[in-house]
Amino acid sequence: MTEPTKDRTLLVTGIGELVTHDPAHGASGVLTDAALVVSGGRVAWTGPAAQAPATDDRLDVEGRCVIPGFVDSHSHVVFAGDRSAEFAARMAGEPYTGGGIATTVAATRAASDDVLRDGARRLVAEMRAQGTTTVEIKSGYGQDVATEERMLRLARELTDETTFLGAHTVPAEAAHDRRAYLDLVTGPMLAACAPHARWVDVFCEPAAPTAFDADESREVLAAGIRAGLLPRVHGNQLGPGPGVRLAVEVGAASVDHCTHLTGDDVAALAGSSTVATLLPAVEFSTRSPYPDARALLDAGVAVALATDCNPGSCYSSSMPFVVALAVREMGMTPLEAVRAATAGGAAALRCDDVGTLEPGARADLVVLDAPSHVHLAYRPGVPIVRTVLRGGRPVA
Ligand code: NIG
Ligand code: FE
Repeated sequence: MTEPTKDRTLLVTGIGELVTHDPAHGASGVLTDAALVVSGGRVAWTGPAAQAPATDDRLDVEGRCVIPGFVDSHSHVVFAGDRSAEFAARMAGEPYTGGGIATTVAATRAASDDVLRDGARRLVAEMRAQGTTTVEIKSGYGQDVATEERMLRLARELTDETTFLGAHTVPAEAAHDRRAYLDLVTGPMLAACAPHARWVDVFCEPAAPTAFDADESREVLAAGIRAGLLPRVHGNQLGPGPGVRLAVEVGAASVDHCTHLTGDDVAALAGSSTVATLLPAVEFSTRSPYPDARALLDAGVAVALATDCNPGSCYSSSMPFVVALAVREMGMTPLEAVRAATAGGAAALRCDDVGTLEPGARADLVVLDAPSHVHLAYRPGVPIVRTVLRGGRPVA
């Protein structure tokens, strides 16, 4: 294929099934025997192949399926160290408590920029090869001013969607004085990190002694908002708790995990603009019960799917794997799962030009080596992502 330039238009044709999420193409947004035009890095047109306009260049995908690039709205890919022993212990019956985060904090503080950068680049390349075209990256394994700032600076080299998570856990050296750590996070650490971040996040999980309760979490989010950051929350992962209600209260773009929800939590989300981001590869990797995706969808809650790629609770960078889990383990239809992994992730990041293939959207698209999106769940573990375009240019 000739690489499109700013001036050249590209016709992607021979698309057996095109998943657009464009309501102009009916409730499903799915077209068969379709084509798509890319111009200036954006989607310019979608429709039946037989009606496609003339373009400079042409890519015939020979009956394959095309979907929007995945939007992975939750990851922790800047880190050092290995926690495979913790995973093995879990598989032998140990519970996941979040306590292992301290192991990664120690390794990350000791690592050079080059080591952290190489690791994060490798994981983002892995994501791209599996169809992810937008990724969010959090800090949170530094938990001191210099390392949190470093993590965000390195994350910014890879994405604009960077999140300050100084309030991931209270580090061991501050365990005797949580107040002092909150003052650090909401003061000098926030000041150093805010220039490199778009979002502020907190691990609101009173069930975990090293994480934060509702009042502490509210304080962290309020400070971030005052510094110009947008709020998002880790909540209701290890047990029922106040995370969801706090996220709705502060108008967070997303509350992530949502593994343990009450009926009131679901109702609060349904009446809000906060997206429920589900991370089923975490439940897979911690052998925990899956979130009730059906209750959320049936209540009309906006749902996203993301990997949460991190060295502790889920060391998978694969959105296709997440889609397969959502279908097999959470009762989502394949189309609901693809939508949550694309348009849902975009909503969770308040990005309005990715996650769909409507005219005007960035031309981020994935050609599957399969005739339909159903194959993402039907063929789990199989590398069916064939080509990935980001802004109309091949990245994998
Ligand atoms: O999103 N929930 C808290 N933090 C991460 C886990 C990080 C770790 O165990 O290292 C998460 O699952
Ligand atoms: Fe996380």
